[in-house]
Amino acid sequence: MKKAVSKWRSAAKSKVRRFAEFGGIREQPLNQYQSSVKKLYDGPQGAVLKFSSILSLHEPLMGQLFKSGRFDSSRFDRILDVGSGAGQIIRHLLQTAQPDAEIVGFDLSAEMLRRARERLDSDRPFFVAADMMQMPFRDNSFDCVTCGYVLEHIPDPLPGLSEFARVLKPGGVALLLVTEDSISGLLTSHTWKCRTFSRGELRDACDRVGLEWDRELWFTRFHEVMKMGGILVEVVKR
Ligand SMILES: C[S@@+](CC[C@H](N)C(=O)[O-])C[C@H]1O[C@@H](n2cnc3c(N)ncnc32)[C@H](O)[C@@H]1O
Repeated sequence: MKKAVSKWRSAAKSKVRRFAEFGGIREQPLNQYQSSVKKLYDGPQGAVLKFSSILSLHEPLMGQLFKSGRFDSSRFDRILDVGSGAGQIIRHLLQTAQPDAEIVGFDLSAEMLRRARERLDSDRPFFVAADMMQMPFRDNSFDCVTCGYVLEHIPDPLPGLSEFARVLKPGGVALLLVTEDSISGLLTSHTWKCRTFSRGELRDACDRVGLEWDRELWFTRFHEVMKMGGILVEVVKR
């Protein structure tokens, strides 16, 4: 009985969320939706992303996570940052990864990568523009994938997550940060034309592609209590 009630509650919650979040991601054909995402990030909204990530505290909090060693990037030799945007995560990787670790930035928008390159002012990262659902990298070629606020830009996360699983070496780690189905997440979904995730849904999708949910992380106690700031999780390729 308890199980049936909880199943009913989560189905009802998911219906409400679908109604409240940005619907275009599911209503438009994939290629049409993706060109609107590319246009959004290529344009003025993408140009101010570097400022909004600082104002929303996302970028500084991510920096603390890396610098405190709560996510230890110094254990990796080859790191792929998917959906690099304005270089919000790469910036911290450059400071915390081993000096000889290879760092690859990847994004659908070549314009965002141009902005990241300009902002980071480092010739160390290597940048590639393409779609995360079809990444031009060999199987088992990275020991870490970082991906902040990107998976919500594909209607079904499985093609993206299975690419992460494919390019990761066995035992490799992915750090995922994803918009949650909270009130703040629903607002984000309309601002950035994306979907949201429940923790159960994301965990399930990771399981299905062989990415084991290792540990949930929190930027701050406020993040943990208010669920503002998204789902932050470290997953491991089995
Ligand atoms: C909100 S920004 C995230 C930037 C950065 N990772 C961060 O943590 O702030 C989302 C980025 O994902 C990129 N993106 C969206 N869909 C993508 C896809 N299918 N493949 C690769 N990148 C994608 C966008 O171009 C944009 O630069």
